[in-house]
Amino acid sequence: MNTQLSSPFNTRKMLTDDLAQVILIEREVFLFPWSKINFSDSITAEYDCRVLEQDAVIFGYGVMMTAPDEAHLLTIGIAAKWQNKGWGKKLLQYFITLAKQKNLQSMLLDVRESNTGAALLYQQIGFQAIAKRKGYYPAMCGREDAIVMKLTL
Ligand SMILES: CC(C)(COP(=O)(O)OP(=O)(O)OC[C@H]1O[C@@H](n2cnc3c(N)ncnc32)[C@H](O)[C@@H]1OP(=O)(O)O)[C@@H](O)C(=O)NCCC(=O)NCCS
Repeated sequence: MNTQLSSPFNTRKMLTDDLAQVILIEREVFLFPWSKINFSDSITAEYDCRVLEQDAVIFGYGVMMTAPDEAHLLTIGIAAKWQNKGWGKKLLQYFITLAKQKNLQSMLLDVRESNTGAALLYQQIGFQAIAKRKGYYPAMCGREDAIVMKLTL
């Protein structure tokens, strides 16, 4: 398996059968992971659920919800050994293109205040911090604020 950006890969709809693989990545990369039910509910609700796949191995995923004229990126994750190779940026750009195709005006997301790596990626793409949700996320010691970020499409 080649983790490099230049190798052939597929971005496709997430299926219920993918959830065993998706949840393994989710638990690897998030301290407070989504449950399998969170993902299956997102598929049932017909949110835009996508996986990145190479040679039948899933190594990344994301879920985008659409409100009347806004996209909400609910989660995005790249398996640990595939991180920092440009895949997260590629998947985010995929969702931005999808949101533009749906004629949405903006994309919103929440990021933990401590998640500076993800925030850097979002800033690099053009997202701007527009608000803070106090104590939005569970944390090891109490709660943690979320930064709300917005990209005008
Ligand atoms: C956040 C995440 C999706 C980024 O995906 P990735 O494939 O690792 O990131 P990329 O390689 O595409 O990085 C693109 C840019 O983001 C920034 N970046 C990403 N991770 C970073 C980190 N840990 N530290 C510093 N910068 C980082 C860099 O600016 C990088 O730009 P460069 O290519 O010019 O160096 C991935 O690291 C991940 O799954 N993390 C755990 C789950 C998570 O935090 N999800 C986001 C929740 S809001």
